[in-house]
Amino acid sequence: MSFPETRLRRLRYHPRVRELVRTVRLAPKQLIWPLFVREGVGVRQEIRSMPGQFQLSLDELVREGREAVALGLGGVILFGIPAEKDDLGSDSYAQAGIVQRAVRALKDATPDLLVITDVCFCEYTSHGHCGVIHETSHGADVDNDATLELLARQAVSHAEAGADIIAPSGMMDGMISAIRRGLDRAGHMETPILSYAAKYASAFYGPFRDAAESAPQFGDRRTYQMDYAADPAQAIREVEQDLAEGADMVMVKPALAYLDILHRVRTQFPGVPTAAYNVSGEYSMVKAAAAQGWLDERAIAIESLSAMHRAGADIILTYWAKDVARWLGA
Ligand code: PBG
Repeated sequence: MSFPETRLRRLRYHPRVRELVRTVRLAPKQLIWPLFVREGVGVRQEIRSMPGQFQLSLDELVREGREAVALGLGGVILFGIPAEKDDLGSDSYAQAGIVQRAVRALKDATPDLLVITDVCFCEYTSHGHCGVIHETSHGADVDNDATLELLARQAVSHAEAGADIIAPSGMMDGMISAIRRGLDRAGHMETPILSYAAKYASAFYGPFRDAAESAPQFGDRRTYQMDYAADPAQAIREVEQDLAEGADMVMVKPALAYLDILHRVRTQFPGVPTAAYNVSGEYSMVKAAAAQGWLDERAIAIESLSAMHRAGADIILTYWAKDVARWLGA
């Protein structure tokens, strides 16, 4: 059939018909809100490059946790900013580390809230890299295998504090099996792992490094995070590897400029819960333009997140989580 029998606009004239035939629907339950925790009391420090997002002390974090529950969000993911950083990032696996205390505070105040923890070292190390540093023939770099043991330790400490899902983001080879083994040995065989499986070295993380105070003090992250110009099949290999090591869910990051990768992962691994991280730079660009009155923040946010969902994300990590939940409910 072709025109005039077929008129594709027929499904678009009536707003109720348009609604009826929609298949891409955003729901607050699929959104995860990233939160930054730091020491102190009553601290609510706005992140300069991310208007509307804050570094929070534990008491303020709990307030946000209550709101996340009230808005029906899928959960939160925590990033810690320790008072003291060192070479090994030892606060990241301390029983009384900032994130461990944050998890306990949330689990006490809002047991219903799903709490995910980011497992990495860059926020905790004095050098800002995602693991232990050693000297190599190409200069100082992260020691992959020495980092694995510490990652497992960090993950176990998060699970002990009560984290519901562990999300390693360091892009070390073998990190999922090291963490899985560590968790299982410590009796946490029921704690799922959401792997940042296809994570690219990206300039879109710029504002996050302000937020988490985690910019690398030398070099960059290109020896561990993926190259955006690499064959996209590399992303499939990363996901395959992490699944083989025991990842329960996988993530593609960043989101908006990587929807092709997201779609490939979705298609290649049906049935594997797939997340997209709508990262700091994606958020800040829109905030900056909206502040100038150049575009409509709400419309852009909902359209972008819908596109991520359409491309294959079941779960979306986004700084807009709270706003979008309100907008969808309004
Ligand atoms: C930690 C981590 C980063 C982000 C999430 N986890 C920073 C990085 O890899 O440099 C970025 C998130 C964002 O930009 O919103 N490794």
